[in-house]
Amino acid sequence: MPFTRRIEAAIAQAIQTGQAGSAPPKLASALEYAVMPGGARIRPQICLSVAHACGDDKPAIPDAAGAAIELIHCASLVHDDMPCFDDADIRRGKPTVHMAYGQPIALLTGDSLIIMAFEVLARQAQLDCQRSVALIRALTQSTGMPNGICAGQAWESEPKVDLSAYHRAKTGALFVAASRMGAIAAGHDPEPWTELGARIGEAFQVADDLRDALYDAKTLGKPVGQDEIHNRPNAVAKLGVQGAIRRLKDILGGAIASIPACEGEAALAEVVRKTAERLTPVAPVVSAHHQTV
Ligand code: IPE
Ligand code: IPE
Ligand code: MG
Ligand code: MG
Repeated sequence: MPFTRRIEAAIAQAIQTGQAGSAPPKLASALEYAVMPGGARIRPQICLSVAHACGDDKPAIPDAAGAAIELIHCASLVHDDMPCFDDADIRRGKPTVHMAYGQPIALLTGDSLIIMAFEVLARQAQLDCQRSVALIRALTQSTGMPNGICAGQAWESEPKVDLSAYHRAKTGALFVAASRMGAIAAGHDPEPWTELGARIGEAFQVADDLRDALYDAKTLGKPVGQDEIHNRPNAVAKLGVQGAIRRLKDILGGAIASIPACEGEAALAEVVRKTAERLTPVAPVVSAHHQTV
C-alpha cells in the first residue's frame, strides 16, 4: 500500500476511536475537522520512508507512529492558531478550529489529539512492547519540555530568543521524532537517524519562513507576513531572501549526506530530494509587505 494510504487509514482509525460511543458531538466533529483533509503530511511520510529504509518488518507499527506524529502536529496547529498565540483565522484554506467551533472546543481538540497520539502508540504494545514504549518516549521528547514543541512555543514569551533553539524546539523536534520513530518502529537503533530529522526540520523551518515572507494567503491557505507582524525572529529577517534560499539548499545537501548506510539508502535519498524540491520556494509571489534583499 502506498505511504499516503497507510497514513490516512491510520489517522482515520484513530479519529474514529475518539468519536465512538457517547462522545460529545461538537468535540467529536472538531477532532476530524482539525485533522482532515490534511496538509502535506510531510512528517509521517518521513517516518514511513525511514521505516521502509530499515526493512519495515511490522508495518502496523510505523503506521501508528506516523499517525501519532501527525496528530501531534495537527494539535500544535490548532493551539498555535488560537488568539493567545497567533490569532489566525484560516488554516489549510478553511476557518481555524476556534473560528469554526469556538475557543473552548479548540483548546479541547488540541488536548484530545495529543492524548490520542500517545494512545495510538500505547496500543502497539500488543504487537511489540519494547518498540511501543520507545516510540512513546521519542514522541514525548519532541512534544513537551524542555526541548519539544511546548518549549518552542514558549520561547515566544521570552524577552530574548535564540533563533536556532526556537526553531529546533518549535519545528525541528517533530522532524527528529519522525526520523527516529521510523527507525524505532522498524526495530532499529534511532541514534544514526537523528541528524537526518534535524536537518530536514531545520530546512523546513527556513522554507516556512520564506513562504511566510514571500507567498500570499491564498497560495498558502493560512495568514502570511506573520513573522514580521509579530516581530518574530526568522531566517528571512536574519539572512535575507537569497541568503535564506542558499541556507535551505546547504542544509538539504547535508540531510542527504547524513542518511546512514542501509538497504533503502538510495530510495530514501530520493525521498529527501523530492521533499527538497517541494520545500524550495519557486516563482515566489513577492508581497507588498516584504522587501527582497
Ligand atoms: C506548518 O507545518 C507549521 C510549522 C511547523 C511551520 P506544515 O507546513 O507541515 O503544515 P501542513 O500540515 O502541511 O498544513
Ligand atoms: C507553528 O509555527 C509551529 C507549531 C505549531 C509548533 P508557526 O506559527 O510559525 O507556523 P504557521 O505559520 O502558523 O503554520
Ligand atoms: Mg506560531
Ligand atoms: Mg502560526
